[in-house]
Amino acid sequence: MKSLEDFFHRAWLKYLKLTPDASGIWSLLTDRGEEIKNDHVAFRTFNIPGIDRKSIGRLFEERGYCEVEDLPFPEKKLQATYYVHPSGAYPKVFISELLLEEFADDLKNWVMSLVGNSLHYKMNSLESLLNPVWETCRFEDYSRFLSVSEYAAWTAAFGVQANHFTVFVNSLKTFDSLQELNGFLLKHGFRLNGAGGLVKGSPEELLEQSSTMARFIPWKFFDGTVKEVMGCYYEFARRYVIPGTNHFFQGFIPKSANRIFESTYQSRPLET
Ligand code: NI
Repeated sequence: MKSLEDFFHRAWLKYLKLTPDASGIWSLLTDRGEEIKNDHVAFRTFNIPGIDRKSIGRLFEERGYCEVEDLPFPEKKLQATYYVHPSGAYPKVFISELLLEEFADDLKNWVMSLVGNSLHYKMNSLESLLNPVWETCRFEDYSRFLSVSEYAAWTAAFGVQANHFTVFVNSLKTFDSLQELNGFLLKHGFRLNGAGGLVKGSPEELLEQSSTMARFIPWKFFDGTVKEVMGCYYEFARRYVIPGTNHFFQGFIPKSANRIFESTYQSRPLET
């Protein structure tokens, strides 16, 4: 791995394949003369030693990132940790993991059988995040467990993968607010996540966020069948300065993030 720039560029290209909206939005914004800066990039994983959130976090710490805070999402049976790069030159990294012990044995055993055999695969550099850690699952299992945990099914299918990139809205010059950006995206036909309102958070909370809804994309499952399943989404974050300082709030609001997680929920039934 040459550099963090190189890593994020390759992670972005990999993410675009699962997120057709992100390329469309990126082009629309750059055509307006915008230079897009990322606020954060989020990854999903399971709490299995070796591939858990802290093991992945360590790969970023080796590249100068600092761990900031653990965030619990009890309702979603998730735990997350985020990391910042002190230089401010790179996006924050938000890593969440599914707490497998909170699920029944059938789901746990399924995930372990999928991932377990891959545990010889050491996550020893950021490069590991750009290659599959396990082979994708069978579609039959994906559809069976989707109703139990959308997060488990998504992660089983795609692996440890950038789940979303996030535009840092403050860096946009042609939009004065997140609401204005949302209006622009809706006008261009993009679907936004309306769970809890289009904008999650408030200026008082120092963070406002919105996101697209993931779209169905064709995905080749382990058994060779190609099915349309929910891919990734694109997020937008506007941050506010912490009163009495000249620093932007760099944290996350669990209540808002909880809703943003739902951007990969599907709105129509799977065609099996
Ligand atoms: Ni996010």
